[in-house]
Formats: sequence, C-alpha cells, structure tokens
Amino acid sequence: MRAAVITSRDGPDAVRVLEVPEPRPAAGQVVVDVRCAGVAFPDVLQTRGEYQLRPELPVVPGWEVSGVVRADAGGFRAGDRVAAMPVLGGLAETVAVDPAMVFPLPDTVPFDAAAAVPLNYLTAHLALGRRARLRTGETVLVHGAAGGLGTAACQLAAAAGARVVAVVSSARKAEVARAAGAHDVVPADGFRDAVHRLTGGRGVDVVVDPVGGDRFPDSLRCLAREGRLLVLGFTGRGIPAVAVDRLLPGNTTVVGVASAELWRAEPEYPRQQWRDVEPLLRSGAVDPPIGAVHPLADTAEALRSLDERRAVGRVLVRVRD
Ligand SMILES: NC(=O)c1ccc[n+]([C@@H]2O[C@H](COP(=O)([O-])OP(=O)(O)OC[C@H]3O[C@@H](n4cnc5c(N)ncnc54)[C@H](OP(=O)(O)O)[C@@H]3O)[C@@H](O)[C@H]2O)c1
Repeated sequence: MRAAVITSRDGPDAVRVLEVPEPRPAAGQVVVDVRCAGVAFPDVLQTRGEYQLRPELPVVPGWEVSGVVRADAGGFRAGDRVAAMPVLGGLAETVAVDPAMVFPLPDTVPFDAAAAVPLNYLTAHLALGRRARLRTGETVLVHGAAGGLGTAACQLAAAAGARVVAVVSSARKAEVARAAGAHDVVPADGFRDAVHRLTGGRGVDVVVDPVGGDRFPDSLRCLAREGRLLVLGFTGRGIPAVAVDRLLPGNTTVVGVASAELWRAEPEYPRQQWRDVEPLLRSGAVDPPIGAVHPLADTAEALRSLDERRAVGRVLVRVRD
C-alpha cells in the first residue's frame, strides 16, 4: 500500500510517500480502508520527535481517519462507514485500529468532514465538559480559533449555549472562526484589551488555550471570578510558567487537558464521548470547516501548512476517491 512515512526527525520535509507492507492487525483490531486523513498539529510534532509518543523510525503518522471497514471485527461489519483514531498509521491506504477508537459514521456525513472530527472534537468535548464544567450562558475565549482544535472548541461551546470569543491572527482566520460559531472575534495582538471591552470589564469564564507561549499571562488576566484556563498545547512554541499567587485573587483554576493520556487510561471513554457528539454531527452543529484537501503525495505540504501557521480550518489528505 502507499503511505506517508517519517524517514528522519527533520520535520515535514522528511516525510516521503512510499510503498510499504499493509499493517498486520492485532487480535480484535478493525482494518479500515482509509478515504481521508485529518492532518493535525500532533502529526507535525511527530515529524520532529517532539510528541509525547516517540516511535522508532520509519513510521507512518496520522492520528485520525475516515473510511470503510474491510472485514467483520470488533463489533463492526465489513462495509461499515467509520471515523477512527489510530494515533499512528492513518496517513496510509489501510490502517488497523483498536475497536475502542473506531466510531460509526452517520450516512449523511461525508468522508472529508468525518476525518476532521475524532481528535479535535473529542478533545474539545473533554476540555469543555469534563475538565472545565462549562455551563450554559458562560463566556469562552478560544485561542487559535481558526485551527483544528480551535474550530472544534468554538462549535462545541456554541452548541452548549456559551458565548464564544475567538482569538485569531488574520482576517481570513476571523471569517473561519465566525463560521465555526464564534459570536465575537478579537485579534491575537492586544486580545486582552479587546476582551475587557467586549465583556464590560467582567472577563470570560473559560479560556481554551492550544497556543500557550507569551499569551498565557494575558489569558489569566482575561478571566472572570472563578474562571478556568484550559492548557491544551503550545503551538506558540513557548511553555509558559505561572506565578501561582496570581491564581488567588480571582479564585482562578488552571486546568491541564491531555486527551490521549485519558483515552489510554479509560478505553471506554472515547465511545461515550462519540455518543454525545454523534447527534451534533447529524444535526450539523458539528461541521468542521475544511480549509484544504491534499492528495496523499502532498502530505509533506499539508504538514508544512500547519507548521508554518498558514493553515485555515482543517487540512485533510484524501487517500482514495
Ligand atoms: N491536549 C490535548 O489533548 C490536545 C489534543 C489535540 C491537539 N492538541 C494540541 O493543540 C494544539 C493545536 O492543534 P491543532 O491541530 O488545532 O493545530 P492548528 O490547526 O495548526 O491550529 C493551531 C493554531 O495555533 C495558532 N498559532 C499561534 N502561533 C503559532 C505558530 N507559531 N505556529 C502555528 N500555529 C500557531 C494559529 O492560530 P493564529 O494564527 O490565529 O494565532 C493556529 O491556527 C497543538 O499544540 C496540539 O498538539 C492538544
């Protein structure tokens, strides 16, 4: 089969599309013939060996896919349309996935959109629900709001009845964040003052932060009383430090969110989450904005677009037509 392969830990440029053997499924695994793969920032980190999981090379990256089940296994039937999270191996014509990470796909959801759902929507579901305990009527500030995790957070927060304020770095990204359900959009530069104005000085209840870096201190200052700041990632490249005395006056909570670790510890949890997300997929409340669709041969360019902050909305690789 054809697959995108990380040949050395030198970033997206070291990804080559090669002929490799098909994966041999372990007992109970579901073999999926891949139609589309979502390209996410963890795949970019993987190309440099900067992701928490550091497999031996060569390795096929690819966190999430959509496709068709090849043979009966793990409670699925041959021909079932599914979305899945193999974590590794998705950027290939075929992948073997643990059944706990395979999800039934409603007939109305196209393969393109489906490939963009599992990782980011289930992570945003965990972050906003279980970790932040978001309530209807609260205000949520979303950094990187035109990115994969950002658009998922905007859509799920809006669907939960929150007011969503998006933080983005360009006018094009502002459009995508609005289309994903953001009620207000503020620029990354000077977001703190803009949030202050928009909320009449009150601040927001929850900050969704997949960016980190030097935004972190101002994110803390944007929080209303008993606000929660969700730490999700560091696309801004810097790991912020927090002086804990800053947390006292506002009764502030800084919350770590790591979906992969939680899914490993609680294998039944992703399916439970999917049961919450599936009705939103059917209703259209979950509808990932697709920014670019690349052929498998252009996987390196798909990864580069995220690495270089050019991606707007989700970036996909169409593996088969
Ligand atoms: N904790 C978890 O469970 C979990 C799960 C999934 C993903 N993540 C993490 O979440 C983060 C976002 O992933 P994603 O797939 O949503 O990425 P993405 O689609 O590339 O979006 C990331 C956003 O970060 C912003 N950004 C700021 N500085 C950047 C820079 N120097 N380079 C690139 N982007 C920059 C960009 O928005 P602006 O240009 O508008 O600022 C961009 O839209 C990653 O760190 C990923 O590892 C965490």
